[in-house]
Amino acid sequence: MTQLLIRHAQILLPDGQFLLGDILTQGGTILKVAPEISAQDIDNIIDATGLTLLPGVIDPQVHFREPGLEHKEDLFTATCACAKGGVTSFLEMPNTRPLTITQAALDDKLQLAAQKCLVNYGFFIGATPDHLPDLLTANPTCGIKIFMGSSHGALLVSREAQLEPIFAEGSRLIAVHAEDQARIIQRRQEFAGITDPAIHSQIQDEEAALNATKLALKLSKKYQRRLHILHLSTGIEAQFLRENKPSWVTAEVTPQHLLLNTEAYEKIGTLAQMNPPLRSPENNTILWQALLDGVIDFIATDHAPHTLEEKAKGYPNSPSGMPGVETSLPLMLTQAKSGRCSIAQVVNWMSTAVAKAYKIPNKGLIEPGYDADLVLVDLENYYPVKRETLQTKCGWSPFEGWELTGWPMVTIVGGKVVYDRGELNTNVRGKALTFG
Ligand code: DOR
Repeated sequence: MTQLLIRHAQILLPDGQFLLGDILTQGGTILKVAPEISAQDIDNIIDATGLTLLPGVIDPQVHFREPGLEHKEDLFTATCACAKGGVTSFLEMPNTRPLTITQAALDDKLQLAAQKCLVNYGFFIGATPDHLPDLLTANPTCGIKIFMGSSHGALLVSREAQLEPIFAEGSRLIAVHAEDQARIIQRRQEFAGITDPAIHSQIQDEEAALNATKLALKLSKKYQRRLHILHLSTGIEAQFLRENKPSWVTAEVTPQHLLLNTEAYEKIGTLAQMNPPLRSPENNTILWQALLDGVIDFIATDHAPHTLEEKAKGYPNSPSGMPGVETSLPLMLTQAKSGRCSIAQVVNWMSTAVAKAYKIPNKGLIEPGYDADLVLVDLENYYPVKRETLQTKCGWSPFEGWELTGWPMVTIVGGKVVYDRGELNTNVRGKALTFG
């Protein structure tokens, strides 16, 4: 079995302490972590002097566009971006074409992923008002995705009467995009004709987000149903969850809702347009505090690439969404370096807590017996986000020009090096994730 020895790394241990030492992996599993491991008879050795070894990121909300929307991104380009960003596993959303709303569509996606993905993969099944049996039986899936708002076509399930049977039947995790569609439609009419993209945050306002979050929580409590609230964007939702969140509910936030706000429209126009929208700077502060306090459980990027041509159509014809998998880890590690949180907290939010919430076995910690999905980051140097070096097919980032530290130097998936200081090994393939 293939062995890999990483030497002289600052290794983040499960208790949050660092060990300067070595780690040996065998056949995709972590075999040993120790201050020193003999290199005798081992061919694959990485000298990690000066680098920090962390569990690979598990990104629990991405849109990788394949099948059907490959002009924006595909599973190969998206997972090249993952490898460069230290993302070793992802959970992908069902708004591809065809929609992932049946077992057949899920099977097709899994087959494509096995051929094309450089990292490990899992997929949501999408809820519609009339595909209930598929939601109960689909396998393997990380959960049911409900677009309560901000979606087009069949994936929209916005009314309480449509949502109720989905919450009532079955037990698997339901993840909601919580925006109140009726309010959005009404406010679109009120603000019709305005082409300043900043109006997006007023049309899909804080109340639209809060209304839907409250409704999802009400149904989750009524049926004691496992609920996950995707990309929380407002302080009022965080406050509501602080007071009302039961133990079986989790919530996530994106780096962009923590680090960008409505001021971004002036600088980057429609590139700042996403759903749920960016909010005022005060919301950044409240979301940060909720994350630090554990009201928000983990971080997802909502990687949602669109081409620059599509973004250039101008508001409201420009699509919502921004890429994220290549920048999320350095963005958060830069925050840790600045003292806003610890590196161990970043790793918990971006890996350990995600594995726990989705019951993904043997991932999210550096410990013997765990999968060898790892990332070596450089926490000493700062480099800017540059358009030319991005792997995502859309070719842009809302964080262009930001000086970040914690860039991945080496990414390892299942014990194999998939990215090494600028070079991708495109022969590596990830595996289908399992969910307990
Ligand atoms: O801005 C967004 N774009 N938010 C979503 O939840 C969906 C995504 C997309 O697929 O483009």
